Amino acid sequence: MDASDIEKDLAQIHYTEEQILGKLRELATRIEQDYEGKDLLIVGVLKGAVMVMADLARSFTRHVEMDWMAVSSYGSGTKSSGVVRILKDLDTDISNRHVLIVEDIIDTGLTLTWLVSNLQSRGPASVEICTAFRKPDAAAKMALPVKYVGFDLPDEFVVGYGLDYAEKYRNLRCVATLAPHVYS
Ligand code: PRP
Repeated sequence: MDASDIEKDLAQIHYTEEQILGKLRELATRIEQDYEGKDLLIVGVLKGAVMVMADLARSFTRHVEMDWMAVSSYGSGTKSSGVVRILKDLDTDISNRHVLIVEDIIDTGLTLTWLVSNLQSRGPASVEICTAFRKPDAAAKMALPVKYVGFDLPDEFVVGYGLDYAEKYRNLRCVATLAPHVYS
């Protein structure tokens, strides 16, 4: 789905598909260099990270193993509570493996803080984070280092490229701020 297909729903386009793909290629090159000679497992966090995983993995010029987790944050509203439940765990034993968690967006950082600590307890060789987008709260307050960041976004209701509003807009090619009339 292109922005022109749902023009009235969008207030502002932040990043086009081309810009996102270009950035993911840059990140893939950095990641390949950083993990040269190492066995890398990339872990996508469902559902938002599907697009990022697909494009990041295809930007690599070497083999990369992929696995998936699905987690759900307890609590109501649109913000994470920090208390997380695993809906789908990894299929892979990550002991002594180099793990790179791939996210679409970090907002409060609570989901990843929990996830990193959970994965660390399984004895991996390393755990790092790659996110396509990051909100200001995470950029300012998150204690965890995020090694690979695509773009910083403003604190607005953004959708597209995996990011949803009520399970819609994930298949929008760009990332855009949703027009207020859609959710108010
Ligand atoms: C989104 C996103 C991250 C999390 C970030 O997932 O994919 O996993 O929220 O928020 P935080 O930094 O405030 O913890 P969501 O729970 O919306 O599920 P989804 O990936 O299925 O859309």
